[in-house]
Amino acid sequence: MTDHPVSVPSTPSSASVPGSVTTPAPVPDSGRLAGKTALVTGAAAGIGRGVAARFAAEGARVVFSDRDGAGAEAAAAESENSRGIALDISDEASVSGAFTDLAASGWTPDVVVANAGVQLFGHDAKVADLDLDVWRRTIDINLTGTFLTVKHAVRAMLAAGGGSIILTGSPTGLNGEGADFTAYSSSKAGIHGLARTVAAAYAGENIRVNTVVPAYTETPLVSAITSDPEARAAIIGRIPLGRAGSPADIEGIMVYLASDDGAFATGALFAVDGGMTTL
Ligand SMILES: NC(=O)c1ccc[n+]([C@@H]2O[C@H](COP(=O)([O-])OP(=O)(O)OC[C@H]3O[C@@H](n4cnc5c(N)ncnc54)[C@H](O)[C@@H]3O)[C@@H](O)[C@H]2O)c1
Repeated sequence: MTDHPVSVPSTPSSASVPGSVTTPAPVPDSGRLAGKTALVTGAAAGIGRGVAARFAAEGARVVFSDRDGAGAEAAAAESENSRGIALDISDEASVSGAFTDLAASGWTPDVVVANAGVQLFGHDAKVADLDLDVWRRTIDINLTGTFLTVKHAVRAMLAAGGGSIILTGSPTGLNGEGADFTAYSSSKAGIHGLARTVAAAYAGENIRVNTVVPAYTETPLVSAITSDPEARAAIIGRIPLGRAGSPADIEGIMVYLASDDGAFATGALFAVDGGMTTL
């Protein structure tokens, strides 16, 4: 079994996501993240790649990380002050080793975006039809991998005096949107709870933790939907603003939470979903 049963090309940049009707206009670099160092997981493609590139454009030093190390390096090469590393969030040695290496080279992150995830289209299912192996694979990466990322981010931030951690959630963890995807939806609900719990535990240590909830966003993750006109129309029909999201739609809220503008935000969930979770 692969994580992406449907073979697709990686998304080259947030500005060229196919099928998006109206994506935000490029935002001039504001320097809002000048002086910060950020680590983004799942940054070889999709939302993570777009967010990491935007962070760099806003003045941060950025570590693009992904289990696809070559993809992370290629993505990082397109941005200033960035580096790409291999990091598998489901492997604690890989996660802790990355934080150790970053500290040794003076790149301890002030901002960590725990974004990497999978959705096993063609395997994930309603609960009566769900194989234990598919459940475990999804939870191992999405929930346990996010836990490991957050655990080592918190350790690094405790040593450094604080920071901002941002998790990528999902409407499927909030409403019935994920009825056919039990494992994925459960992993995302777990991520929402993890963020609240860690935020409460470490607010006194100047560590903020928040969750961003995108809607259906046209990245390689959801190519099974994007390539099926009927399925695509159906999901867009459940987005009140009437279009699919793109990684560019998510970048602004991530910049806010990473920056000092977000200094009073913690333990919160920010839906930037075209209204999807209002239904
Ligand atoms: N695309 C959507 O519609 C949508 C909607 C809501 C939430 N999300 C969430 O947004 C996040 C990013 O999704 P995307 O659409 O950009 O997906 P994507 O498939 O385009 O990119 C995900 C990246 O994560 C990497 N990855 C997968 N497993 C990993 C692991 N074990 N360790 C490190 N990297 C790993 C992949 O190699 C890939 O580069 C995910 O958490 C996803 O659940 C996506």
